[in-house]
Amino acid sequence: MRTTVGIIGGGPAGLLLARLLHRTGMDCVVLEARTREYVEQRQRAGMLEQGTVDALHEAGAAERLKAEGMVHQGIELRFDRERHHIDFPTLTGGRTVTIYAQTEIVKDLVALQLAEGPPLLFEAEALAIEKPDSDSPVVRFRHEGREQTLACDWVVGCDGFHGIARDTFPDTLSRTYERDYPYSWLGILADVAPSCDELIYARGEGGFALHSMRSPHVSRLYLQVPNGTDADEWSDDRIWDELAARFAIDADWTLHRGPITAKSVTPMRSFVHEPMRHGRLLLAGDAAHIVPPTGAKGLNLAVSDVRVLARAFAELHRTKSGQLLDAYSDMCLARVWQATRFSYDMTKMLHAQPDGDAFENRLQLSRLRRIAASRHAAAELAANYTGLPLLM
Ligand code: APR
Ligand code: PHB
Repeated sequence: MRTTVGIIGGGPAGLLLARLLHRTGMDCVVLEARTREYVEQRQRAGMLEQGTVDALHEAGAAERLKAEGMVHQGIELRFDRERHHIDFPTLTGGRTVTIYAQTEIVKDLVALQLAEGPPLLFEAEALAIEKPDSDSPVVRFRHEGREQTLACDWVVGCDGFHGIARDTFPDTLSRTYERDYPYSWLGILADVAPSCDELIYARGEGGFALHSMRSPHVSRLYLQVPNGTDADEWSDDRIWDELAARFAIDADWTLHRGPITAKSVTPMRSFVHEPMRHGRLLLAGDAAHIVPPTGAKGLNLAVSDVRVLARAFAELHRTKSGQLLDAYSDMCLARVWQATRFSYDMTKMLHAQPDGDAFENRLQLSRLRRIAASRHAAAELAANYTGLPLLM
């Protein structure tokens, strides 16, 4: 097989890139290791910056998003048993965010690609990327029990944090930066209407909790738990009691309870790999960087990488200039580090310290009180949360 751009990974990054390339008239092939059912069911985040919504429109993949996406004008912060609304449009000059689950984005992109192309192969696992620093890199992959090769002009590793693309970079080139956090999130889906129109980020006595949603009938909630927690240790009643305690405020407010349909524990990590290009191999999305979910930036960063990359390939295709491709890694990393900083700050501000450090506790509260009291501090949070401008 031969193609112009070989894309490894059919998550949001790989699928959106394929769609954008297809619309500029470039051919590509997507290799996805898992089955269609698996990638369509994997529970992930769901908060989209305006730029992410725009990218899905540009890709002609926003029909269902337009009908079902829930536009949010702000978020609520809870601490000291009080609620504080952070109003995005007034603080950012009109910006909003949209709730639409990553699972739905993946379903929409898969359906379009299977109907209109370019080729998307499921259960096609990339085994190796050969000669990434030559003009004709090759991806070796296994599909339908046979080992095959895909000869490419360019290879893009959209293969997530556990993929193979990042490991193809020579050790002498790769630099990695990481931070693990001493807590995880227990996430649930529940068949119950959201308890409030907005996302709630709560710093409760017992730790952090987040209220989010998937539809007018399905709530998505998260609880800070110790690392190594087994989700089965948490009965449904225990989860609801703990959520209710962490969201508790002095005003009248009730958390709606309902049947829990999914439960999982996710550890929190920051990770950045530099650079994002080696010869004709480029990385996009989780393959290059991971952020803790507190800032809701993971999916949005994957999409902004892909927007820059699609624009760079379009320039190459149209004018034969590789200038934007040369700038790709630096342009993305500037944004990645801003999102890494924001996610780190949000995480540190909202989670209880497992060692109960009283000094850190006071600092957390003073940060939150500053955001509640100062339009300037709230505007800084709103600008980062709704997404910094994409410089291209
Ligand atoms: N060959 C083919 N496919 C592979 C390989 C391989 N060797 N290794 C991994 N993959 C596939 C995975 O099965 C997965 O479907 O690559 C895909 C990577 O998708 P994601 O992990 O969703 O990563 P990305 O597309 O970058 O999306 C980032 O996902 O983790 C969240 O918070 C993150 O929302 C963000 C988004
Ligand atoms: C989600 O809806 O799953 C979600 C929302 C905001 C976050 C993290 C996850 O910060």
